[in-house]
Amino acid sequence: MSGVIDARPVESKEHSWLAAGLCKSGFFSALAREQLDEVLSLMLMVRYEAGTVICAEGEPGDAMYLIYSGTVLVTKEAWTKPVARLQDGDFFGEMALLLGEPRSATVTTEGETEVFCLASEDFQRIVGRSPDMTEALRRLAEARRAELARS
Ligand code: CMP
Repeated sequence: MSGVIDARPVESKEHSWLAAGLCKSGFFSALAREQLDEVLSLMLMVRYEAGTVICAEGEPGDAMYLIYSGTVLVTKEAWTKPVARLQDGDFFGEMALLLGEPRSATVTTEGETEVFCLASEDFQRIVGRSPDMTEALRRLAEARRAELARS
């Protein structure tokens, strides 16, 4: 994808941040430690240039992302309607995977941004094993959807 500076497996020094980040986000807090380790081993660290569209509204979703450094803007109707600004520890791209719908919004990097990326098939496998996590994610997706409708 254009805008990618590099993509590589997660390094061990990033594991503790990532474990804490995943828990902070509430995203994977329902996972047992060994499941968390599995998620970490499946993720890629991707570095994007400023101004890169990571998710495009209306496109199918193929991955979800957790921000390690940098910020992204969530917008609707191309870039005309701002919805949210997300920063390190926040995640995005989960709604299309969870709800089986096209991307609900466009997500664009503001400056150079590093994200941990989890491919859709890995996401589905992990989420499918944890009803608690599915429920937590569904609640968040509904809240984000309601906020999208208001913006
Ligand atoms: P998805 O629909 O896969 O792709 C666009 C992403 O933007 C979406 O997942 C969410 O992760 C994110 N998003 C949508 N609406 C909001 C919102 N109201 N607040 C924060 N992030 C959002």
